[in-house]
Amino acid sequence: MRRARLRVSVLVGLAITVMIAFVGAIAYVVMVQAQETQVARDLRYNTRFGVPDVAPRCAWVFVLKDGVLDEGVLAVPGGFPLRGDLDAVQSSGVAVSRDVSANGTEYMVLTTAGANSTVQAVFDMRYLLADRHHLLLALGIAQAAGLLLAALIGLGVSRRTVGPLAEALARQRQFVTDASHELRTPLARAYLRAQLLSEDLPEDQRDGLDALARSIRGLSDVVDDLLLSARLNRELDGPPVNLVAVAEAAVAGESERAAERRIVLSVEFPSGPLVVSGVETALRRAVDELLANAVRHTPEGGRISVRVAQRDGQVELTVADTGEGFESVEAERLFDRFHHGRGEKRFGLGLALVREIVAGHGGTVRASGHPGRGARFTLRLPPAVESSSRLRERITSACP
Ligand SMILES: Nc1ncnc2c1ncn2[C@@H]1O[C@H](COP(=O)(O)OP(=O)(O)OP(=O)(O)O)[C@@H](O)[C@H]1O
Ligand SMILES: [Mg+2]
Repeated sequence: MRRARLRVSVLVGLAITVMIAFVGAIAYVVMVQAQETQVARDLRYNTRFGVPDVAPRCAWVFVLKDGVLDEGVLAVPGGFPLRGDLDAVQSSGVAVSRDVSANGTEYMVLTTAGANSTVQAVFDMRYLLADRHHLLLALGIAQAAGLLLAALIGLGVSRRTVGPLAEALARQRQFVTDASHELRTPLARAYLRAQLLSEDLPEDQRDGLDALARSIRGLSDVVDDLLLSARLNRELDGPPVNLVAVAEAAVAGESERAAERRIVLSVEFPSGPLVVSGVETALRRAVDELLANAVRHTPEGGRISVRVAQRDGQVELTVADTGEGFESVEAERLFDRFHHGRGEKRFGLGLALVREIVAGHGGTVRASGHPGRGARFTLRLPPAVESSSRLRERITSACP
C-alpha cells in the first residue's frame, strides 16, 4: 500500500514537473527568438540609415568609404570594428553576419555593402542576455516551487486514491481473521466429538467417522491458513521454518499420485536444514501447489525434480518437470489471479496464492518453460536470521 502511495505521488510530481519544464522551455525559446528577430531588424536598419556619430544605445555604426574608416566620435568597444569583415564585404559585395564574444558579453555584427560605401552595424547583447538569465532564474525557482507543490499534491492525491483501498483491505483482513477465529472453536469441537464417537464404535465401523474426522482436520488447517495469511502481511518475522522439511513433506504427499501416473519424482536436498522465517503452513501450501501443478501437467512416464539449495545467499527451491510446459511470454501471466491455461477448468488461483505467500515472506517466485519441453518454477526466500547451523545445533541437542 505504501508502494502504491509512493507511486501515485511520484507520478503526479513527475506530471507537474514535466508540465512546468515544458511551459518554461516554450517561454524561453519564444523570448530568444523574439530578441534575435528584433536585433537583426535593428542591425539591418542601422546599416541602411545609421550614422557613426548618432548610433542608438548599445549599437555602433562604422562606415568604410574610399579606403577611409569613419568610426564616429562615440566610445567604441574593444575589438571593433571588424576590419576583416569590412574589407571582405567591400571586395565581394556580399553581406556578412556573425556573433562575436568579447569584453565579457556577446555582440551581433552585420556588415553590408552600400552604393559607394561599406557599413558595419554592431549590437551589444548584454541587456538581452541579462533578460534571458533572469527568465532562466525565474523558471528555475518556479520549477523548484513546482516540485515542492507537486510533492504535496501527490501526497494528497495518493492519500485520497489509495486511502479507501487500504481501508477496504484492512476491513477484508479483519473479516478474514474474525471469521477464521470464530470457526476454529466449533471445528475443534466437531473434530474432538468425531474422534470420541469413533473410539466408542466397534473397530469395523470406524472408517467412516475417521474419514469425517480427517476432513474436519483438513478444514481446520484451511481456517488456520486463512488466519495466518491474514497475519502474514504484517508479521514477516515468523518462527524458523526448515524449507527442506517442507519440500520433503510435499514430495511425500504427492508421491502416491506420481507413482500412479508412472512419473519419476526425484529430489535433491542438502543433508542439513535450510531455514527461512515465516509461516510453515503457508509455505507448505505454496510448495504443495507447485508440486500438484507439476504432477497435473506432466504426462505419464515423465519426470519431476525437486531441489532445495542455498544460492547467492538465498534459499532456493526449484520444481522442474518434463511436462507440457508453456510459451515463455506466458510466464508472468501464470501468476495472475484466475489465469489458467486454455481448456483448463480449474480456478487459476494456485500460482497467484503462491506468489502472495512468497512475497509475504520477502521472496520471489519465477516461472520458465517451453511448450512441450516442461516447466520450471523457482522460489527464492531470504534465509532466517537464525542460521541453519544454529538450528542444526538446536535439532541435534534436542535429540537424545
Ligand atoms: N508445471 C506446469 N506446467 C505447465 N503449465 C503450468 C504448470 N503450472 C501451472 N501451469 C499453468 O499455469 C496456470 C495457472 O496455474 P494455477 O496453479 O494458478 O491455476 P490452476 O492450477 O489452473 O488452478 P488452481 O490451482 O486454482 O486449482 C495453469 O492453468 C496452467 O496452464
Ligand atoms: Mg494450480
